Amino acid sequence: MKKSIMENKDEAIANGLIVPDEQTCKKCHNPESPNYQPFDFKERWEEIKHPIPE
Ligand code: HEC
Repeated sequence: MKKSIMENKDEAIANGLIVPDEQTCKKCHNPESPNYQPFDFKERWEEIKHPIPE
């Protein structure tokens, strides 16, 4: 996959990029999980986001 695809959000989505929201995370991070930890979307998002560097 070309880097230019990831630099164009619409094209990236067309090629399978998932733009996750709280519901996406909670498919796994929910109390049914065997090692569930309280899941605060905003806090956890800060831990995993990886913006394009300036
Ligand atoms: C397909 C299942 C799945 C989805 C969807 C998912 N996660 Fe996870 N996540 C895991 C697993 C499995 C672990 C590792 C087990 C653990 O640490 O509890 C993990 C670990 C993490 C950790 C490290 C936890 C820790 O305490 O060290 C963070 C932060 C995290 N996920 C954030 C997110 C965020 C934010 C989203 C949504 C954008 C998300 N995850 C969506 C399965 C998932």
